[in-house]
Amino acid sequence: MADLENTTHDFSVGHGKVILLGEHAVVYGRHALAVPVRLAVKANITDSDDGIHIYIPSWGTQVQLQQSPDNPHPMEETVTLILEQLGLMDQQMKIEVNANVNRAAGMGSSAALAVGIVRALNQHYQLNLNDHRVNTLAFECEKLAHGNPSGIDNTVATYGYPILFKKGKKNEPALIEKLTLGAPLPLVVGYSGVESLTLKMVARVAAARKKNPAIYQQIFDFIDSITLQGRDALQTGDWQQLGELMNVCQGLLNALQVSCWEIEEMIQVARQNGALGAKVTGGGGGGAFIALCPGNQQTVIEALNEAGYQAMEVTVNG
Ligand code: MEV
Repeated sequence: MADLENTTHDFSVGHGKVILLGEHAVVYGRHALAVPVRLAVKANITDSDDGIHIYIPSWGTQVQLQQSPDNPHPMEETVTLILEQLGLMDQQMKIEVNANVNRAAGMGSSAALAVGIVRALNQHYQLNLNDHRVNTLAFECEKLAHGNPSGIDNTVATYGYPILFKKGKKNEPALIEKLTLGAPLPLVVGYSGVESLTLKMVARVAAARKKNPAIYQQIFDFIDSITLQGRDALQTGDWQQLGELMNVCQGLLNALQVSCWEIEEMIQVARQNGALGAKVTGGGGGGAFIALCPGNQQTVIEALNEAGYQAMEVTVNG
C-alpha cells in the first residue's frame, strides 16, 4: 500500500504525482490539478574511482556513462544533462536510485527521478541549490523525456504538495498555486500493465489537434473549466462533485483518444464497485488510472485485483 501525502521533502527525494484533472490540456496553456505521491524516488551518491555509474535496481538499470557511445542508454542523456549543468562531469561517482514508482505509468517517474538525482548531487557536493533551481533543471530533463512538457510533473516532483498548475509563457512564470485539501483525498491508483510513453501520447494529441484545431480548442477549454471547478471541490472536500468532474473529464480524454482497453475496463470495475469518479491519469494510452473511493478503497482494490489488475490505496493528506 502506498502512502500518498502532502509532506515536507527529504534532500534527495523526488515525488511522483497523479494528475486529478487537466492532463494534455495543460500542455496547451490550460489549468491542471495534481497531487504528489510521497517518497517515489530516493537517490544517493557515493564516490567511485572508475567513472560515473547509474543503478536503478527496481527498473533493472545498470549503466556506466560513456561506455557505449553508439548506443547510449536513455538514462545517460538525463544524467549527462544534469552533470553538465552542475559542472560535475569531471567527478567520478555511483548514483544509486531507489524508485518506488512504475516507469512509463503516467505517474511522473521521469521527473521524480531527475529531482531525486539533482537533490542527491546537491547534498553530496554541497551545491546549495534552491528548489527553484532543482525544478528548472528537472524541467530541462523533462524536455528530453517528453519533448513538449507542460512542467507540471517536475513541479510536483520538486515541491511535493497538491497544486493547481498552469504552464508559463515567454515572459510569464508558470502558475503554481499550493492547495489545501478539504479532507484527506481517498484515491485508488490502478496500473493497466501497459507501459506508455508520455512523449508519444503528447505527440499524438498534437497531431490530431493540427488536423482539427477548433474542435481541440473547445475540448481543452472544457477540460479547463472542469479543472477549475475541481479545484473548488478539492478544497471543500466535496467528493461527490469531484467524482462527477473526473467522470466527465474521462469522457473528454476519450475524445482526445488517450485511453485504452485496459484503462476502460478498470474504470468500469471501479465505478461498478462504488467509485465516485474514475479516469486516466497522466499521458494515458496505458499507464495508470485513478478512482475516487471514499469509504470503499479496499473494495475497489479487491475488485480490480480480481479483474487481473494491480492497484494500491493512495490517500492524500493536506
Ligand atoms: C503528463 O504527466 C501529463 C501531460 O499533460 C503532459 C505534460 O503536462 O507535460 C500528458
